[in-house]
Amino acid sequence: MKAKNCLIFGGSGQIGRHLIRKLTKNNYRVTVVTRNIHQKGHIIKTQGNAGFINIIESNIFDETKIKKLFEEADICINLIGILFEKRGNSFKNIHTLFPSILAKLCKQYNLKHFIHLSALGINEATDSKYAKTKIEGEKEILKNFSLSTILRPSIVYSVDDNFTTNFMTLLNRLPIFPLYYSGRTKFMPIHSSDLVNVIFNVITQNISSQIIECVGPETITFKQILEKLLFLINKKRLLVTFPLPLAKLSAKFFQLFPKPLLTEDQLTLLKYDNIKSGNYKTNFDIGCPAKCFFEKEVKKYCYMWREGGQFSINKNEKKSS
Ligand SMILES: NC(=O)c1ccc[n+]([C@@H]2O[C@H](COP(=O)([O-])OP(=O)(O)OC[C@H]3O[C@@H](n4cnc5c(N)ncnc54)[C@H](OP(=O)(O)O)[C@@H]3O)[C@@H](O)[C@H]2O)c1
Repeated sequence: MKAKNCLIFGGSGQIGRHLIRKLTKNNYRVTVVTRNIHQKGHIIKTQGNAGFINIIESNIFDETKIKKLFEEADICINLIGILFEKRGNSFKNIHTLFPSILAKLCKQYNLKHFIHLSALGINEATDSKYAKTKIEGEKEILKNFSLSTILRPSIVYSVDDNFTTNFMTLLNRLPIFPLYYSGRTKFMPIHSSDLVNVIFNVITQNISSQIIECVGPETITFKQILEKLLFLINKKRLLVTFPLPLAKLSAKFFQLFPKPLLTEDQLTLLKYDNIKSGNYKTNFDIGCPAKCFFEKEVKKYCYMWREGGQFSINKNEKKSS
């Protein structure tokens, strides 16, 4: 069987790396587009066997260069997304304009499938620029290419994420930690491997023209996430509820940094629960249930944030047993 060629945008990111491993192991050829082959080439190249991965350096808006890649592709997968705006990298450009260009090219070159990663909870968060532009991007895709599948994941975690790993670093260093909206916001975290299984299932089962919400097996609040991480890294920290004006002020300050810890838009998003809506099918409904539980998975790599590293003993666990 001739290996299908998947054209991937954003393949060097957290989800992309896991996806490249899954696809190449299963005899799919991947072409990965990156903005900087010198910085990201080795990360992408080492995710699969030689011969299965082709890397192209390009500006994602260079249509002449990108068009050529569509001539060879069977499936296009878009994993590009941003959490904050910086100069030309506006939410509108990345979340709306770019997916719209890809959908039109998928149609022009008769691709078999377009898979796009959006985000959970964006229907409700009408006052967030991130959410609004993701919704507009979805509309553009559905309007321009009927063989599209939109996946809306809750927060995604794994050993190489920017979420649990950053939080464990901060919890290690800070004596007190802020809780926004009293830490009541709910999430259904999904492990990267479970999400990648969903994407693989969507490809192999040829599931198109659908919005699918991708969630993990449990619902946990922001405060519970922090408590679980503190338990796992053996630390006791004061979790302090930040009043909204103070939270806004801190976000205003943080967003001055090149890679902000928190922006005003992210604070707005945190107001809304990040759980399945009941209005769309989920990964469970399409026969691809998430199997990884948050605490059990993070336990496999949290020792790196404990005193003593791999030789550490979790005192909290000893107490609770
Ligand atoms: N991770 C999560 O918790 C989560 C939750 C919900 C939804 N999502 C969505 O899932 C998708 C993939 O997430 P991810 O966490 O794997 O993403 P990621 O690691 O943050 O980024 C993916 C890749 O996108 C490319 N990229 C980033 N900014 C860009 C820009 N301004 N212009 C062009 N390319 C850019 C980068 O590739 P190069 O540097 O190689 O060009 C980057 O490696 C995104 O759309 C995200 O919004 C993620």
